[in-house]
Amino acid sequence: MADISEPALAKAISKVKETIPNHPRLETIKCDVSKEADVAAMVSHLDSWGGVDIMFNNAGIMHGDDADAIDTPEKIWDLTHNINVKGVWFGSKHAVLSMRNHRKKGASVINTASVVALVGSATPQLAYTASKGAVLAMTRELAIVHAREGIRFNALCPAPLKYACNSVVLYQTSTSRALKFGISRH
Ligand SMILES: NC(=O)c1ccc[n+]([C@@H]2O[C@H](COP(=O)([O-])OP(=O)(O)OC[C@H]3O[C@@H](n4cnc5c(N)ncnc54)[C@H](O)[C@@H]3O)[C@@H](O)[C@H]2O)c1
Repeated sequence: MADISEPALAKAISKVKETIPNHPRLETIKCDVSKEADVAAMVSHLDSWGGVDIMFNNAGIMHGDDADAIDTPEKIWDLTHNINVKGVWFGSKHAVLSMRNHRKKGASVINTASVVALVGSATPQLAYTASKGAVLAMTRELAIVHAREGIRFNALCPAPLKYACNSVVLYQTSTSRALKFGISRH
């Protein structure tokens, strides 16, 4: 498991150990998915495990300052796209390289997009929505390109779940955002 946050990794690994007492070998590694050198190091660390069989590119942010076309700051757009889009590209790229090096058969890459990639969002979050559209489009192309070498690519498009990524935006500040953008909370 890899994440930019060491406390998040510690929490995740203890949850896995608690849920699966006879768990297989587990390791965590700190990795900023928006930095290619970090992703390359994380993937090459898995050479001693026999390379990558499955890559789950799930890291993503929805920033509290993400807004509509008028009010989204450019730095929030860039931050969101660096993590959500470039992170998925780097993860996909280094997964494919590892799968090729280790001659994997039936390997799989799963990228987390979002339902907003399909239908947009009534609560303005333009940088996030555009980033998830990019993840979905990128995954479709990767699936076609890498099918011939037996690597499967799929994208998940979850609807909102109450987790850290969106809790600030959708739950804690939903009233103020609803007032600002003149929309219903439901
Ligand atoms: N929660 C939802 O309702 C929902 C809906 C649709 C899609 N998603 C997507 O699901 C994925 C997981 O979301 P979540 O709700 O579990 O969010 P979360 O905030 O609980 O988890 C996201 C994780 O990504 C990590 N992260 C952030 N920036 C990083 C970086 N640069 N490098 C490495 N790790 C980084 C965070 O530390 C965090 O542990 C995200 O891609 C999110 O966009 C979530």
